[in-house]
Amino acid sequence: MLLTNTLTLFATLLTTFSTLTTSTQHHYNGPKNPSEFRKHCPYTPHHNSRRKIYIRPSRNAKDDISVDLLRGLKQANHGGTLVLPKGQTFVIGKKLDLTFLNNVELNLEGEILFTDDIKYWQSNYYYHPFQKSISYWKWGGKDIRIWGNGTLNGNGQAWYDGFAGLEILVSKYFRHNTKNVVYDNVIIENVSSNKNLPKNTDGWDSYNVDGLTVRNAWVNIGDDCFSPKPNTSNILVENLYCNGTHGVSMGSIGQYAGVKDYIYNAWIENVIMLNAQNGARLKGWAGPNVGYGYIQNVTFKNFYNYNVDWPIVLDACYFNVNATSTSRTSPGPAAA
Ligand SMILES: *[C@@H]1O[C@H](CO)[C@@H](O)[C@H](O)[C@H]1NC(C)=O
Ligand SMILES: *[C@@H]1O[C@H](CO)[C@@H](O)[C@H](O)[C@H]1NC(C)=O
Ligand SMILES: *[C@@H]1O[C@H](CO)[C@@H](O)[C@H](O)[C@H]1NC(C)=O
Ligand SMILES: *[C@@H]1O[C@H](CO)[C@@H](O)[C@H](O)[C@H]1NC(C)=O
Ligand SMILES: *[C@@H]1O[C@H](CO)[C@@H](O)[C@H](O)[C@H]1NC(C)=O
Ligand SMILES: *[C@@H]1O[C@H](CO)[C@@H](O)[C@H](O)[C@H]1NC(C)=O
Repeated sequence: MLLTNTLTLFATLLTTFSTLTTSTQHHYNGPKNPSEFRKHCPYTPHHNSRRKIYIRPSRNAKDDISVDLLRGLKQANHGGTLVLPKGQTFVIGKKLDLTFLNNVELNLEGEILFTDDIKYWQSNYYYHPFQKSISYWKWGGKDIRIWGNGTLNGNGQAWYDGFAGLEILVSKYFRHNTKNVVYDNVIIENVSSNKNLPKNTDGWDSYNVDGLTVRNAWVNIGDDCFSPKPNTSNILVENLYCNGTHGVSMGSIGQYAGVKDYIYNAWIENVIMLNAQNGARLKGWAGPNVGYGYIQNVTFKNFYNYNVDWPIVLDACYFNVNATSTSRTSPGPAAA
């Protein structure tokens, strides 16, 4: 999918790989599955005296409790906690706009499960023009905390089966227009129960985000593991396991003609990159009809590659554009 054999560097790609370590010789002997990972990063429940709200669980995989969830969050708003207990499933069958939140907690110990009604989801969503993304949930507000030992199940299988052989983008944590988001101790897995492979499953993406932290994460998916998109700044990633991914990718930036994109101040430390296409990667568009901008001040430190095809990738000719045409149409940073 990617052409990385011809590398041209923008003058504006001022990024340091000075502390990057590649270790292809050593044998990987870290955690091999989520429960081994959990031993390194145990979950410790925390107790507080906030007001607790409960809603009814679903009786079966079609019993949509979206309306109850919405009501529960409204009741828990301004100082309370909506609790979804262990052993219970909460089925979501409608798109929800949850952008009214202020000082609220969701304690997820059970499972949130999206329905498999891909017909409904294909005509009911929130659209964003960036990479034509659609989503089913919009969370927004201030001081929102989601924590617990539970599961958020997007029902990927319905999509892998429904779109077998076709390209779709399934992204787990896409963030728009946000300040100071932290993900701590999160496990992301794309699992298919049959021969229809999961597709384009990114771990974290971000867009117009200032202040993004991801720490203590286990990611077992098929596309980018952690990938800030345009206009992301002040990024901290530490203790990240990625298996079977396309690596930690800055960008891509510059996809849209005339639009400025930037990514700056990223610190990425202690990464185990297993069975990946790429390790540390920067990707920017060039050539005719692209945008402009920069990736600046990015540090990769203690980055361990095991069975990685391209441990370091500086791709200034993303996507499927050859070096000849990018150099011809990009005489200097102003045009890049
Ligand atoms: C990595 O992913 C492959 C393919 O899904 C799997 O067979 C292997 O067990 C995984 N390894 C680890 C360490 O998670
Ligand atoms: C968290 O969930 C895992 C998997 O369901 C379970 O093995 C573990 O005991 C749970 N930990 C706590 C503290 O509840
Ligand atoms: C995740 O999806 C990729 C393909 O998109 C596949 O190669 C990989 O085996 C999947 N991982 C799991 C745990 O199913
Ligand atoms: C990034 O921010 C700049 C302003 O600094 C804005 O002009 C541009 O449209 C933004 N890019 C995207 C992709 O939103
Ligand atoms: C570069 O980024 C780091 C955080 O990763 C920050 O501490 C430092 O101040 C930045 N340097 C400059 C010159 O902005
Ligand atoms: C690069 O791409 C341009 C435009 O598609 C094409 O005309 C040219 O032949 C290509 N050059 C090489 C070396 O492949």
